[in-house]
Amino acid sequence: MNEEILNQEWLDLAPAWIKETREGENSTRTGLLDKPMLEACGNVEGLRVVDCGCGEGCFCRLLADRGAAYVLGLDLCVPMIEAAREMGSGRDEYRVADVQDLSSLTDGTFDLAVSYLNQCDLPHFDANNREVFRILKPGGRFIVANLHPMRSAVGGWHRTEDGKKLHVMLDRYFEETERHWTMMGVEFTNFHRSLSTYVRSFLTVGFHIADIVEPTVTPEQLKAYPQRDDELRVPNFIVYALGKPP
Ligand SMILES: C[S@@+](CC[C@H](N)C(=O)[O-])C[C@H]1O[C@@H](n2cnc3c(N)ncnc32)[C@H](O)[C@@H]1O
Repeated sequence: MNEEILNQEWLDLAPAWIKETREGENSTRTGLLDKPMLEACGNVEGLRVVDCGCGEGCFCRLLADRGAAYVLGLDLCVPMIEAAREMGSGRDEYRVADVQDLSSLTDGTFDLAVSYLNQCDLPHFDANNREVFRILKPGGRFIVANLHPMRSAVGGWHRTEDGKKLHVMLDRYFEETERHWTMMGVEFTNFHRSLSTYVRSFLTVGFHIADIVEPTVTPEQLKAYPQRDDELRVPNFIVYALGKPP
């Protein structure tokens, strides 16, 4: 797909995305993914961090608040970067950049890289893996949260006539193509790939896989975000913890 169209989709989505991230309930983050992402990042005190596809910078701010020495947020969408700069704390910096080409960044200069729901948006996610591997220091880590491949394939809930969820359908899993959705009222494209395609790309680039987490909800999270009850039944998201050899 033409990358200009992909960029335009994010430009169209940005106002609603920024508003929702700042004012909405954000159950995907606070109710589910922030916890395993922060756990996978571990102690970030004093680290140099890069966030690929940082959006309006919410996860960069969390890492800066936890003591990272420097957090560089990269995003291709200008309004996202402008919004991120508005809330910067001083240790976080934001630049407009395509995370599939990090040639402006020097080899071996970051301790930690994160990708929080960005690789599913990239036509060339393997280029992002190669570039992140290059800019990490030996022993550096890359934490990737993504749509779960079981859920980015064609599917959806099969429901009773009165709308009760019976089970999730899964189809065209091995068809690695773009998929079209509507998010916040905007037509939107992302890319489905199988689990083995992601894992093979990480390994081919040279990462080792330290952990794979399929986040679910704790009883406390479920109480606060009852709408996330799906997470007890199906894996909607996945977190990969990758390492560059020392
Ligand atoms: C699903 S949002 C996630 C944003 C942020 N990580 C968060 O969790 O709020 C994906 C982000 O990736 C950005 N993006 C898409 N393609 C990109 C690319 N090639 N390079 C850099 N950023 C990109 C979009 O502009 C968008 O801000």
